[in-house]
Amino acid sequence: MARYHFYGEDVNKKIAALRGNIGKRVLKVENLSKAFDNKILFNNISLEIIKGEKVALLGANGSGKTTLVNMILEGNPHIKIAENANIAYLDQNCEFENTDTTIIQYLEKETNIKYDELRHTLARYHFYGEDVNKKISALSGGEKSRLKLLIMISNGFNFLILDEPTNHLDIEFKEVFENVLNEFDGTVLFISHDRYFINNTAQRILEIKNQRIYDYNGDYEYYKGKQVEDTIVIIEEKKEYEKSSKKYSNNYIQNLEKEIKTMENLIETSKEKLHTENDYNKLVIISKELDSFENTLNELMEKWLETN
Ligand SMILES: Nc1ncnc2c1ncn2[C@@H]1O[C@H](COP(=O)(O)OP(=O)(O)OP(=O)(O)O)[C@@H](O)[C@H]1O
Ligand SMILES: [Mg+2]
Repeated sequence: MARYHFYGEDVNKKIAALRGNIGKRVLKVENLSKAFDNKILFNNISLEIIKGEKVALLGANGSGKTTLVNMILEGNPHIKIAENANIAYLDQNCEFENTDTTIIQYLEKETNIKYDELRHTLARYHFYGEDVNKKISALSGGEKSRLKLLIMISNGFNFLILDEPTNHLDIEFKEVFENVLNEFDGTVLFISHDRYFINNTAQRILEIKNQRIYDYNGDYEYYKGKQVEDTIVIIEEKKEYEKSSKKYSNNYIQNLEKEIKTMENLIETSKEKLHTENDYNKLVIISKELDSFENTLNELMEKWLETN
């Protein structure tokens, strides 16, 4: 599978042909589909991301989140990227191409951070003292993530695409990074399963589900609220379905039909009596009986209709 220079050089070169003026949008996906072998990941999906938005991409394991991001980075005729978007990409596994160099050497080579600001910046990303002389090959997953995030934020990229950025981060740095992202004025599209992180950073939620993309124009709380509404709708639909597909025994239906016939006869008799009876008190009793027979007949008819 193709690899990307995480801070964008290769990515930005590759997608050069797909750039265009798409107004306020930084990304526009139209009618994109993807399947591996016989497994459809998504079918005819469309989405747009506006400049400056912080968007979380959610979905179950294997739903196609990483695949979608890879398609954006690989370039595709169904995908357009704003002319002035400068993309940086953090891959899910957080790999470096050159690991035989120290943190400080790496930063000196790869960023424009001034020497006297380096220590301060490194400290913000929780690298202290001798840490900065560690080789990249010796870094933990969390240290690698922090280093990549530092470079992305400090190097003038304006569209960050992050695949599970908090996977390796400890809770202290996660809080720092939430603040960093909230201060960042570029666009961010991030994949995450971390609901605290999503809650604190995303302004909009996209979810891959049932081979489609669902767009929730609000934060995680809003998304959760909508999930509850959707669940209620699903439960109601299920109830309706169960009701409509319920099987009634022949015996039950035949008994109902017998009761209906009986009620119809009783109603007929009561009506005849109403015509022939002269005693006022008896007429009142008969008309009350007639009302009650008619109500019972209506109830029986409703039950009978349900069996059809
Ligand atoms: N190159 C490939 N060839 C065949 N199948 C693939 C390939 N890449 C991914 N898949 C399959 O496509 C599905 C989606 O994979 P993808 O990595 O996009 O999921 P994801 O949503 O990122 O999951 P996770 O949350 O676990 O990271 C998976 O079933 C995966 O096995
Ligand atoms: Mg993934």
